[in-house]
Amino acid sequence: MHYTILFLLFMGSHMIFLNNETKLTDQEPLFTKEQLDKADQVIKKSKAKKVKKVDAPLLFKQSCASCHGRKGGLGLAGAADLTASKMPLRKQVAIIYFGKNTMQAYGDHFSTDEIVAIAKYISTLRKS
Ligand code: HEC
Repeated sequence: MHYTILFLLFMGSHMIFLNNETKLTDQEPLFTKEQLDKADQVIKKSKAKKVKKVDAPLLFKQSCASCHGRKGGLGLAGAADLTASKMPLRKQVAIIYFGKNTMQAYGDHFSTDEIVAIAKYISTLRKS
């Protein structure tokens, strides 16, 4: 009886530990405050009407699919699986604008409307 309780306590603490570990490895890329502020500005500057007119699927196919795949799940060159991503809009905008590791920055390549349109489009590739 005594040992059962000890065992359960041990397993319990172990599971909390494992849980923390998965959280660490699943961590989203980190952004600086400046990058997040810039992302907020990009979102604010974009015009809903213009965002709607952007052919985001085409831009995604041209600039992003080489690593992420047309459906977002390819993961070439260490690319994150966009179908499993839970990244909020401002961080999507930040990573498109500034890039991260092997993913280049697109801040000079796309207009603010295009960046927001692509960020919204990739959210539609999510499976859940
Ligand atoms: C050269 C390959 C490459 C291309 C091209 C590329 N990416 Fe990425 N992408 C990556 C890599 C690598 C990561 C992981 C970055 C990291 O966290 O270190 C990533 C991560 C991301 C993430 C973060 C997802 C998450 O949940 O962590 C988003 C969003 C994203 N890319 C969108 C795009 C978009 C949109 C484009 C096109 C404009 C694009 N990527 C083009 C390689 C690429």
